Order: sequence, then structure tokens, then C-alpha cells
Amino acid sequence: MDSIVVTGGAPLQGQIPIAGAKNACLTLMPATLLSEEPLTLTNAPRLSDIKTMTLLLQSLGAEVSALADGKVLAMSSHGLSSTTADYDIVRKMRASNLVLGPLLAREGHAIVSLPGGCAIGARPMDIHITALEALGAEIELKDGYLHAVARGGLKGARVPLRFASVGATENTLMAATLAKGTTIIENAAREPEIVDLVICLRRMGAQIEGEGTSTITIQGVDRLGGATHQVVTDRIELGTYMLAPVIAGGEVECLGGRMELVGAFAAKLDAAGIDVAETERGLKVRSRGDRPRAVGVVTEPFPGFPTDLQAQMMAMLCTADGVSVLEEKIFENRFMHAPELMRMGARIDVAGGTATVTGVSQLKGAPVMATDLRASVSLILAGLGASGETVVNRVYHLDRGYEHVEEKLRGVGARIERVAGK
Ligand code: EPZ
Repeated sequence: MDSIVVTGGAPLQGQIPIAGAKNACLTLMPATLLSEEPLTLTNAPRLSDIKTMTLLLQSLGAEVSALADGKVLAMSSHGLSSTTADYDIVRKMRASNLVLGPLLAREGHAIVSLPGGCAIGARPMDIHITALEALGAEIELKDGYLHAVARGGLKGARVPLRFASVGATENTLMAATLAKGTTIIENAAREPEIVDLVICLRRMGAQIEGEGTSTITIQGVDRLGGATHQVVTDRIELGTYMLAPVIAGGEVECLGGRMELVGAFAAKLDAAGIDVAETERGLKVRSRGDRPRAVGVVTEPFPGFPTDLQAQMMAMLCTADGVSVLEEKIFENRFMHAPELMRMGARIDVAGGTATVTGVSQLKGAPVMATDLRASVSLILAGLGASGETVVNRVYHLDRGYEHVEEKLRGVGARIERVAGK
């Protein structure tokens, strides 16, 4: 397994291009199952999760070609050969469950493995199941697989979500585009990735209103056409790289960044005394040289502070001036980066879903273990500002969600390299 070695102390200077959003692309790709016409995605990120989704769609009989060095995904599913999403693909990537809604809508049946838990939590699917049953699906759990059938097709309905689940909103939204009648999703998730999905579905001929609000209304249509769609910028990658100059010093311009993608996050940076400037090419963050102020963080569904930036924010707060309290309200076990940061000298006290971070002047490089995608990158960020060398092991987690992370950081002066695993 590869490792990444970071030698701290180099201030950063320059520009980092932000890729298309992993979490948008992973819901846009299954949308190809809704239509027999081609769907082409541009600005796709080059990530292992995208490769996993490609394999899954191909296992169902869809055609997926990665063009232009993987930045363009040309897909079509005029003839599906299977409606079963196998456990050995789904267990690697929970987002595989996003084929459930499209397959039910297109074929009237689907067998999708339950993803099983992952490092950050149990990741149940009860909200997805209740929502699709409201549209008329009959769903049964057998041998770890969800067996779903929509006899006579799906019918539009009022679908209240008990929690604004991103995936459940996406599955329901995609299923409803081909249901007979009107669907109203209440307490829908409002993430930018959902807005991006709606823009693409509308281009395919779907009739949808209310994206970005808590109520989304879908008028079912008989069929959807093809489309070409540019994947929205990745707000989590954006937020991650905005923190790099705060931790390492210097100034970085994140190309493609837009303030509306990171509102709550940027507000926290402002509260910590960090300047974020909008430029015509993106967002520029400059360290003011003094330590950031400690701030409180509570993770919430969008437009609140994103859970996917909690680990990265904690890495920054480890050397802030004061005591910061972080509350993780979305996932039940998303502080696994804390013990690793403590190996680097961080002072963190974790009690249930609350982590209290007492800032120290500087962390010390150490060998650390990546446990999940966002924890991995928080350790790299910490290493940029630490004294000495930090070796982050098990970086396969990283490659799921960050495109060429060492090249992007080396491009602005970081001392970072990937060491091939033994
Ligand atoms: C999406 O996961 C993202 N993944 C996650 O990003 C992100 O952390 C999460 O949304 C929250 O923003 C993709 O988009 C591929 P949820 P998702 O359904 O859809 C519970 C990353 O690092 N829940 O909003 O799975 C669930 O256990 C990943 O890129 C149920 O209880 O998130 C969790 O505690 C990690 N029952 C909470 O809701 C359900 O049926 C939020 O889950 C569904 C979810």
C-alpha cells in the first residue's frame, strides 16, 4: 500500500485547479440508467470511486467510456443486461446504492446489495426504502440484498423524509422522474450536488422544481432523452485546499472555486480571522502569518457546515489560538483522524459526537494511519504545517476522493511525495 510523505514548513504559493465534484458525479452517472439516449458528463474527476461506479454500470449492461484522460464520461444504457448491484462492488462504495431508484424507474425491479457499514458509520438505507415504497415499490431484504419491485410501475406521491438524506433524496428524485403523476419530496437535501443532478435531469427532459430547497416537486414523464452536462466544482476539494495555506502559510488561489459552494465553511474561516477573497478565477486564501482564532463547528446538512470538511477543519484548529469545540451531527463515528492528529502532538478530547481541540503552537511530524477519505487528507494538511516528516499510510482512501493530491500540493510548493507500498 502506498504512503504519502509530507515534510512540513514550506509556505505555499500559487494556484490549485479544483476538479469536478465526486459526490455529484456519483449520482449523475446512475442517471444514465433512466434513458436509452446517451448521457455525456464533462469535467468529471479522475478518482477510483468513479472507476468503481463505471464498473458497476458496466455490470448492468450500460456502456461507459472514459475519454479525454477521464475528464469526459460518455455513457449509454440502451439495453440493460442486469438489474443486480453486486455486494463486492457495493461494499467498496456506498454510492453504488444510487442505482436503486433509476433501475426501479427504468426496469421496474432491482436487486441491490446493502452496502454494509463503513469506517464512519452504519450507513443504513431505511430512508431510501421508505421513500421508494411511498412511490409504490415493494422492497424486501434477503441475504443482505434489497429486492425491489415496482408492479405496474412507480406512482407519484408525497414523500416526507425523516432526515434530509443526500442519497435518499437522489434515489427518490431519479425514480420520480419516470413515475406516473406528481411526486413531492419534503425535507429534501439541499446540497449543490442535488441541484447539479436536477440541472442534468432537466436537460434530459425531466420536469422538476424546487432544487436547493427542502421541497422538490417532480412531474413524471414517459421517457427521458440524452444530454451533455458539466459536473459542478467539488466544494469539498475546494474547502480542503482553502485550508492548506492557513496551515502551511502563504497564499493559494483555488481555481473554479465559488463562494456559494462553501458559504458556511467560509464564514467559519472568517470567524477564525482568515481572509478569503473572490477572484475572477476562483477563491484566494492568504495566511496572515498569525495563528487562526479557535472557532466552534457543528456539522449539518447543507447549507450548514459540511461533515465532509470536519476532519480538515480539525487539522487546522489543532494549531489555532484557543479551544475549539467540534460537534459531528451527521455521522456517528467520524473522529478517527483525532487519535492520529494526537500522535502529531495535537491536544484533542473526544466525547461521543463532540471533539474539544486545544490549540498548540505547532504539530510534530509522525507516521500516521489514514482511516477514511476525509481523515486521510486532514493528516496531509496537518503534515504541511508540522515540523519534520509526516508519513500517511493507507492512502488508497485518499485516491477515492482526491485527484493527484500530491501533484496539486507540490504545484504550490509543498514538500510531498508518494512512496510506493511494499
Ligand atoms: C452523501 O452520503 C455523501 N456521499 C457523503 O460524502 C456525505 O458525507 C453525506 O452525503 C452527508 O453530506 C455521496 O454523495 C456519494 P446521507 P449519503 O444519506 O448520501 C443517515 C464523502 O466523504 N442515514 O445524507 O450516504 C446516515 O447514516 C462522503 O465524500 C440513515 O440513517 O449521506 C448518516 O448518518 C462520506 N438512513 C446521515 O443519515 C438512510 O437511509 C447522512 O447520510 C440514509 C442515511
